[in-house]
Amino acid sequence: MTCGCFGASTIKRRRSPTHNPNEVYGVALDNVKNFSDKELRLATDNYDSRKKIGRGGFGTVYQGTLRDGRQIAVKTLSAGSRQGVREFLTEIKTISNVKHPNLVELIGCCVQGSNRILVYEYVENNSLDHVLLGTRNTGRKLDWRRRSAICIGTARGLAFLHEELVPHIVHRDIKASNILLDKDFNPKIGDFGLAKLFPDDITHISTRIAGTTGYLAPEYALGGQLTMKADVYSFGVLVLEIISGKSSSRANFGGTDKVLLEWAWLLHVEGRLLELVDPEIGEFPEEEVIRYMKVAFFCTQAVANRRPLMSQVVNMLSRKIRLNENELTAPGFFQNSGESSRKDLSSGSTSNQTLSLPPTITEVNPR
Ligand SMILES: Nc1ncnc2c1ncn2[C@@H]1O[C@H](COP(=O)(O)OP(=O)(O)OP(=O)(O)O)[C@@H](O)[C@H]1O
Ligand SMILES: [Mg+2]
Repeated sequence: MTCGCFGASTIKRRRSPTHNPNEVYGVALDNVKNFSDKELRLATDNYDSRKKIGRGGFGTVYQGTLRDGRQIAVKTLSAGSRQGVREFLTEIKTISNVKHPNLVELIGCCVQGSNRILVYEYVENNSLDHVLLGTRNTGRKLDWRRRSAICIGTARGLAFLHEELVPHIVHRDIKASNILLDKDFNPKIGDFGLAKLFPDDITHISTRIAGTTGYLAPEYALGGQLTMKADVYSFGVLVLEIISGKSSSRANFGGTDKVLLEWAWLLHVEGRLLELVDPEIGEFPEEEVIRYMKVAFFCTQAVANRRPLMSQVVNMLSRKIRLNENELTAPGFFQNSGESSRKDLSSGSTSNQTLSLPPTITEVNPR
């Protein structure tokens, strides 16, 4: 067989006098392999249920092993895309050029009729939600050093997507199940660029709104306004999950109907923030953990332009800098019962809607 290509029964290559073996439907896929259906069936034991490692909104994920022994994660996209094959492949090409230590690498794809399959590097230690949160918790406890490295690595991956790539990529779905952990528990963000493969499909996200995941920035949940600041918001919620070991999809914190962010802010106002810390975390540096929680509040500010850029977040997390708390207002959050439930936690005030980007979130003097 020539280099991995789509099965003969699925897509026929266009031949041209200057035929490029990596070119499929006029799209040159230099950094990504076109797997045949047969290759992926071989790799996954014909999509055996024992090879299934998860199922998300876009489809099912299988673990596979290539003939050269390389481990892969095969994501069969069930939603079907309204995009044509060429548009799909063009997006794949874009994603495959995005390489960063904190991003899951896309190594290939396969197209069969209207079905599309993505092939990623296999990330050994599963996703953060398995390791840290909820009922799927594997019981493995992460100490503060690991948790802090997960926060900083994730922030770096996002800063890269937002600020170093041209054009930039807004992830749109930052959450614990999309943060995968490698053999050393370094974080790798998965599923970036997927939103662009399904440009018309917001069902995937809106289904999640019903689940009160608590990751969605209010302006995105209510108005569909999607900017990189919506990712910053989700990242802030994720940081609170990492510190508390609790899922933001729960809504009964403190014996009330409060979601994680709301509960955390209440503890902050009452000067009891350390109560949020996961008892399983072991010894931890109190000041640093408090700084991380305050960074999470900056990320989740109700008004998008009060939230920092991810590169600022990397700095705020990795350096011992004093945060300018005078700039901190109450976070905003969205609850799933509709428009009227958009809550701004600053006791009903909406005056901060018109405020512009704070001059500085951090004070220059190091501690
Ligand atoms: N590259 C990978 N390596 C190892 N495991 C993976 C990989 N990609 C996904 N998984 C596993 O498969 C599960 C399902 O992933 P998937 O992205 O389909 O769903 P999700 O993240 O829960 O939801 P969503 O569809 O919103 O992203 C993940 O939680 C993770 O455990
Ligand atoms: Mg995912």
